[in-house]
Amino acid sequence: ARVGVVMAGGSGERFWPLSRPGRPKQLLCLTDPNVTMLEEAVRRVEPLFGVDGTYVATSTPLREAIIDCGVAPESLVLSEPARRNTLGAICWIVANLISRDLGDATVAILTADHLIGSPDTFRECLASAMDIAEREDGIVTLGVPPTRPETGYGYIEEGDHSSSAASNGRVARRAQSFREKPSEATAEEFLSSGRFLWNSGMFFFTVATFLAELIRTQPAAHLALLNMAGALRANDRDAARREFESLPNISVDYAVMERAERMFVLRADFPWDDVGAWDAMARTLPSDERGNVIQGNAVVEDSEDCVVINDEPGITVGVLGLRDLVVVATKDAVLVCPKSQAQRVRTISEAVSKRR
Ligand code: GDD
Ligand code: MG
Repeated sequence: ARVGVVMAGGSGERFWPLSRPGRPKQLLCLTDPNVTMLEEAVRRVEPLFGVDGTYVATSTPLREAIIDCGVAPESLVLSEPARRNTLGAICWIVANLISRDLGDATVAILTADHLIGSPDTFRECLASAMDIAEREDGIVTLGVPPTRPETGYGYIEEGDHSSSAASNGRVARRAQSFREKPSEATAEEFLSSGRFLWNSGMFFFTVATFLAELIRTQPAAHLALLNMAGALRANDRDAARREFESLPNISVDYAVMERAERMFVLRADFPWDDVGAWDAMARTLPSDERGNVIQGNAVVEDSEDCVVINDEPGITVGVLGLRDLVVVATKDAVLVCPKSQAQRVRTISEAVSKRR
């Protein structure tokens, strides 16, 4: 069987003040005014995995909100008992699949925070990635040609042609190396070398392949995963939670992907963008002739390349003579910052949480 799992447990702190602890960005309508990012992500892959084979993985505090919005039936919403980043999420997913007799499945790990164009091509690309994952016993990633020295992404170095694998006319190369979130200087180097692709954040593997890479890279997590699967099968939630809590709080990129042995990279042949922070709105939403992205009740004069978002119809936002700024207004909070600092908005949402 092939199953798709949309990871949707991130807190989206960089989208403060629109995203709040109980309402992260996956539950916001950022890329389509009427549909949440999570719903878009789920609907996009349902034709591939069926309604029964499309799971959502999140952390327990978000479980209710996700079930309430009706994107997936309750039995397909997997919720981690604590926050352990994406290593925890993927171990929990795999343990749940094993406990549901899906230990022979091929798994597509997908994300809820991306803008993806050409859905048909996207689905074809996923099918090829899974073919290759099954045939090569490898972890397949989708690589995106980089256009700027982004430090918020992982970078994958393509190997030579000799070790490539093909499916449906798409060719995946062995990955020579994987480097998560490099420094700015290293990102510049990677970009100019022409040998690196951005990691799109999606992973494809058989359960057996993931376990084989995990036992080499994170043996303690591997053991915890098997124990969790046993506990889940026995319906012992407490034991499963204890095992889960023993996992380190680290992303799968650092924990496994940087050190994985059989890693492949397939070039994504569909438009992709990470909607990571407010500056992404400038790349992904339509702008006026002076480069301003304006949403909601706002008057913007003599300004250039600004992102102005007003979520509160009852107030009017006026912006005059500004350039490269982000202005976001909601009913009880306002954010103003340079676009170049959008990645640091997390520090504000953290400070706000501490004051409570
Ligand atoms: N279930 C669950 N539990 N999901 C989580 C958790 C968690 O604890 N933490 C994060 N996620 C989800 C997010 O909602 C998102 O869909 C996905 O996992 C990736 O997490 P991010 O926190 O957004 O990661 P990132 O953007 O910093 O980096 C990853 O994505 C980049 C591309 O967007 C890495 O894979 C990079 O290598 C990659 O370039
Ligand atoms: Mg992300």
